[in-house]
Amino acid sequence: MPELKVLISRDQIASRVAEIGADITRDLSGQPVIFVGVLKGAAIFLADLARQVQLDASFDFIGVSSYGNRPSPAQELQHGWDSTGEVRLTKDVDQSMRDRNVILVEDILDTGLTLNFLKRVLLGHQPKSLRIVALLDKPSRRKQPMQADYVGFAIPDEFVVGYGLDYAEQYRNLPDICVVPRPV
Ligand code: PRP
Repeated sequence: MPELKVLISRDQIASRVAEIGADITRDLSGQPVIFVGVLKGAAIFLADLARQVQLDASFDFIGVSSYGNRPSPAQELQHGWDSTGEVRLTKDVDQSMRDRNVILVEDILDTGLTLNFLKRVLLGHQPKSLRIVALLDKPSRRKQPMQADYVGFAIPDEFVVGYGLDYAEQYRNLPDICVVPRPV
């Protein structure tokens, strides 16, 4: 595995997460919220963000998977992969979302397929409000229009790992967000 290069340091992440937490605290002005994390990448971001939000809060998690033949990790690193565009739910939320202020927490917004799907699913639960927060955004990769209400960092189309993001399930526990160089 080639050497990883830090793209966004733990200090940069911490200060941006604190800013987003303050924005959410201000925007929801005293109302309770439920954070819904998208498994598995958003778990670490959710844990840090929730501690920067000064509101009554509970947690839930939702899981999704894309149809299509995912290539080997090495091929995915080199060429990326294009799913069929169909997303399916692998784990629904455990609690009722009805009349609640839902904050959907994603690690990365890429093609937009996952968040478009999840937005439809969650709106079907008739929440009082739905806000989307994505730590990372790759706007150049979008296939379906999607804009998060809160974005940590817009990044170029690099393969990134750390702070929840993986390469073949590895590196999720790195404290910094790093680029895995694509083989030449
Ligand atoms: C990643 C990421 C988002 C999705 C974004 O999940 O966590 O859920 O892809 O991609 P999109 O905008 O192109 O739909 P992944 O399938 O890698 O699962 P993971 O969170 O378990 O790593």
